[in-house]
Amino acid sequence: MGGKEEDMKILVTYFSQTGNTKQIAEAIHEVTSQSNDSFLRDFNEITVSELDDYDLVFLGSACHHANLAPPVLKFIETMPSSPNFKLAGFVTHATYPPEGSEYHAEMFEKWGSLCAKTYEKLQNEKNIDYKGYFRCMGIPSKPIEQFINQQIIPDEEEWAEYIAVIVKHPDVSDIENAKKFAKEILDKC
Ligand SMILES: Cc1cc2nc3c(=O)[nH]c(=O)nc-3n(C[C@H](O)[C@H](O)[C@H](O)COP(=O)(O)O)c2cc1C
Repeated sequence: MGGKEEDMKILVTYFSQTGNTKQIAEAIHEVTSQSNDSFLRDFNEITVSELDDYDLVFLGSACHHANLAPPVLKFIETMPSSPNFKLAGFVTHATYPPEGSEYHAEMFEKWGSLCAKTYEKLQNEKNIDYKGYFRCMGIPSKPIEQFINQQIIPDEEEWAEYIAVIVKHPDVSDIENAKKFAKEILDKC
């Protein structure tokens, strides 16, 4: 009714091998912990059964193989139907975001678009109250960088352009956007 919500118990959890998604999780937690009981936990430390202890769960993942990382997909499969918690998703991905050009949009469609769809599907499949999604670019590890160069962006000029961009992410504006996202989700809850 326009008034401020009571304090919520919030979980911000992240699957992150090289730290990009963790940085976004930390930014979200910085916001959620200002007026709520918020916990920042590595994905590997949590179990599905404890999710119902929370009012709101921010579940984050690096994008792997064009979708959420396999352990996160497995975790989601075992999530209960009609749980108590509300859900928000966040992802970092090495592909360009779709907004830049038709080429970027095509690349994102192929290599990153399933992440949001996987979260969205939970509304119907598990009757989860899903509140929204955040994503930004994140610099890949060397082996993944090599894969992208060989399989996705072989052109030398395009590669130089890509590396110059990706090396900065997540950047200051990604972190600011993640904080804005966290505020928007809190407003919706
Ligand atoms: C095994 C593996 C597969 C990946 N596959 C994709 C992919 O399909 N699309 C994409 O955009 N990024 C992909 N990436 C890149 C990561 O999503 C990206 O660099 C992310 O920011 C890494 O996050 P982290 O530092 O939290 O682990 C992949 C990375 C790994 C390790």
